[in-house]
Amino acid sequence: MVEELKIVTLGHPALRERATPVEEINGELQSLIRNMAELMYRVKGLGLAANQVGIPKRFFLMDIGQKEGSPLLEVYINPEILAKEGVTEYEEGCLSIPGYYAKVERFAKLYVRAVDLNGKPFERELEGLSAIAFQHEFDHLEGILFVDRLSPLKRELFNRWWKKHSKR
Ligand code: NI
Repeated sequence: MVEELKIVTLGHPALRERATPVEEINGELQSLIRNMAELMYRVKGLGLAANQVGIPKRFFLMDIGQKEGSPLLEVYINPEILAKEGVTEYEEGCLSIPGYYAKVERFAKLYVRAVDLNGKPFERELEGLSAIAFQHEFDHLEGILFVDRLSPLKRELFNRWWKKHSKR
């Protein structure tokens, strides 16, 4: 019996919580992550963080390969950013803020460390869309949303947009 996972949207407190570290990688976590992956693919998201399904634990999934037609699921548990450099910009969206897209500035290159689904630590260099997606998902674990990174003016415009669109 698997609990139905749902993606929570802006206004849900889990999106503003700082996620706590995963202490044990067990079968329960692995099946949760598999269910989250299924959900992410179903809604065609590039990434999904635990906070977004109402679970403030430090892990997220992403699959940038979908964009090029060669899907490859990446799981980052207890992720850390060890080094970052350069600047890039990309029009981001978020499953928790459906329908809104805006350009956000990010680091162009990252060197990260995390633990995989089998509990094995790994380090990886990320650039391009992988680096952008990583930062977007990592922000979720900190309780930060991409709209928090907009200029004050754009943020105000977003607030008005959201007021109108979230009431439907
Ligand atoms: Ni997001």
